[in-house]
Amino acid sequence: MSTEESSFTLGTAFRPDTIGDGAVRAMVGVLDAQDVAPSIERLRAWALAAGDVQPGEVCVDVGSGTGVMTRRLAALAGPDGQAIGLEPNEMLRAVATERAAAAGSTAEFRPGLATDIPLPDASVDLVWCERVLQHVPDPETAIREVARVLRPGGRALLLDSDHESRVESSIDPDVAREMLVAFLGQLANARSARDIPRLAMQAGLVVDPDIGSSALVYTQEELQDFELYRLSGDQAVAEGRITRAQADEAVRSMSEAARQGWAFSAITVFGFVCRKPGSGTVSS
Ligand SMILES: C[S@@+](CC[C@H](N)C(=O)[O-])C[C@H]1O[C@@H](n2cnc3c(N)ncnc32)[C@H](O)[C@@H]1O
Repeated sequence: MSTEESSFTLGTAFRPDTIGDGAVRAMVGVLDAQDVAPSIERLRAWALAAGDVQPGEVCVDVGSGTGVMTRRLAALAGPDGQAIGLEPNEMLRAVATERAAAAGSTAEFRPGLATDIPLPDASVDLVWCERVLQHVPDPETAIREVARVLRPGGRALLLDSDHESRVESSIDPDVAREMLVAFLGQLANARSARDIPRLAMQAGLVVDPDIGSSALVYTQEELQDFELYRLSGDQAVAEGRITRAQADEAVRSMSEAARQGWAFSAITVFGFVCRKPGSGTVSS
């Protein structure tokens, strides 16, 4: 693992096996910025309400990142409950552990992959898995694992992005389309959200008909020299889809619009409430 790498590269971003320490630091900055985005908070609040965590329950946050949601689950589960953040990336686990301690949270963090959840069958009341499946090449196994660890009557809140829904205001549409295609090809599971209902049902879960959605809207600040567009442009050039000049112009025109304050770019994040049939309880 390189510690020199200081920014994301397409294809390695968020993959615990390939991402370098410098890129993890950059990722923490991105996640912190997104944590305060009102659009993300609206979806999280909706999902938390649907999940209805009770004091004493056992909650697991799969792919917990900086642990922000693990801490919220720990607060809801209370002193008699438990909130475990599963995070394969060691550096993110360290950040999450440090932040939980500083906040006086009981949230705990363990290594683990979505496709191999290190917990017994039927041992969890609630699973939270937010913007993780898009980075998992085998989401079918991951969702089967979620169903396995849930107790009958347990709930899974699966929130994920659909990158094909990306919109932007200030890039030539033909160029933007080529950049998006190049970007989609680099992600493990770019259209993740649209497969979740099928995979959850095939794993034996029941999906609530009310599906949540919210656009992750990038700020004007983020859109200046936006790395996502720079990387998408570089990839599209490498694939011969657009010219270098077109890629540079895409980043420049979006940056200029952001300086004027009217740039707009977003992707849709969907939320699915999945329930394991039956009833029971993990907590005593
Ligand atoms: C976009 S971040 C989301 C973090 C957090 N869930 C949030 O919403 O703030 C994606 C997270 O998924 C983790 N991740 C990537 N592949 C994973 C896998 N196979 N199993 C579990 N987590 C994974 C990454 O390390 C990272 O923490």
